Amino acid sequence: MQKLIIQGPAKINGTIQISGSKNASLPILISTILSKGSCVISNVPNLRDTKFLVSILNNLGCKINFKNNFLAIHNSSIAKKIADYEYVRQMRASIIILGPVIARYSSFKIALPGGCAIGNRSIDLHLEALKKMGVQIKISKGYVVATRKYSKLNSINHRFSKISVGATQHIIMASCLAKGTTILKNCAIEPEVIDLVTFLNKCGAKISLNKRTFKIIGQDNLNLANYDVIPDRIEAGSYILATMATQGKLILKNLIIDHLKEPIKLFKKMGLKVKKISDNEFEFKCGVINPISIINTREYPGFPTDLQAQLISIFLKNGKKSKIRENIFENRFIHIPELRRFGANISLKNNTVEVNKVKELNGAEVMATDLRGSFSLIIAAMLSKGQSIINRIYHLDRGYEDFDLKLNKCGVNIKRKK
Ligand code: UD1
Repeated sequence: MQKLIIQGPAKINGTIQISGSKNASLPILISTILSKGSCVISNVPNLRDTKFLVSILNNLGCKINFKNNFLAIHNSSIAKKIADYEYVRQMRASIIILGPVIARYSSFKIALPGGCAIGNRSIDLHLEALKKMGVQIKISKGYVVATRKYSKLNSINHRFSKISVGATQHIIMASCLAKGTTILKNCAIEPEVIDLVTFLNKCGAKISLNKRTFKIIGQDNLNLANYDVIPDRIEAGSYILATMATQGKLILKNLIIDHLKEPIKLFKKMGLKVKKISDNEFEFKCGVINPISIINTREYPGFPTDLQAQLISIFLKNGKKSKIRENIFENRFIHIPELRRFGANISLKNNTVEVNKVKELNGAEVMATDLRGSFSLIIAAMLSKGQSIINRIYHLDRGYEDFDLKLNKCGVNIKRKK
């Protein structure tokens, strides 16, 4: 298993090109199941998760070629009506394959996604809406066995009991081919949801948004269109936080800064200086960090849960009773015991973390446990004196394209060892 060797202390100083968004690429690729035809999706990050999804869809009978951040898609029909456990257990997000398949075909069987390191992550919201749309659902031997009762899915007027990114994307996709007009309330409006909707509309779907309500006018069919995926706001936010933590200087290229409006407002209060170079190129630098009292993770446009772990790392040497409350996932703290190995002073009570600064952090051997938590370990290693080893870096390869090369170019002494 590959590991990272980082020599600290390190400072970020350089330029990074932000990759395409992982969390937008996955549903966009899945949504192509809704239609026959061909298209090219560009700005797709070359990651473990994107490559894995390509293999799942090819296994179902799609014809997808993935090269140099381009996906060439040639879809005819789904030949296989089952997504096996072996595939789904490795990528939770693959559950949203069910909706688009059942919108086109009368039956499909997909393994229940397994447990997850960052919490319970149930799929009740997904299944409840699909049932209302006329899908008979049985759970049998670890599989969701779905059968469409009528010739088309029903349109629904539905309010999600909780805001969910995956469930919103899932049911929007299914509604595109439903009979009549669907209204979905209390939806997620993350940029990755909006990017999916923009792609679907380009393919002929009729989807509009008012506050948190989507209206989807069902169509008989869609026509696949070429599309360029948005940049990854979480990758960008992670590098900005690494720059702040190490009091460095960074230019980010290919950035939609509006997608990070709330976090950047907060980072500016903490001492971040932002200079616009062009519409999608910005310089970030930071000297002394002002500790804050409390930050809550919230649905978009609030502070993203996907930046919670990296934010904690900023306070390892700057915190003053600095609190971060996790409101999206009930158990997204597995990086904390690992951060303590560097000598961090962190306490955890219910869903709130308190960080107090320590004078010195020391290099340690740690284990990556989940995607975003793993990036907080990189930041901690950069803040530490001496060598750190991060094991199980496949978690990082799931979501950060070429992160070791990008950090290396910014002056960080980071090496990947087989
Ligand atoms: C997506 C992102 C993930 C991000 C998360 C929240 C992808 C591939 N992943 O995950 O990076 O951290 O949004 O912004 O895009 N829930 C239920 N029942 C359900 C579905 C969700 O109770 O049927 C709960 C979850 O346990 C969680 C909350 O709803 O507490 C939000 O989860 P959700 O937005 O669905 O996360 P994902 O779509 O899985």
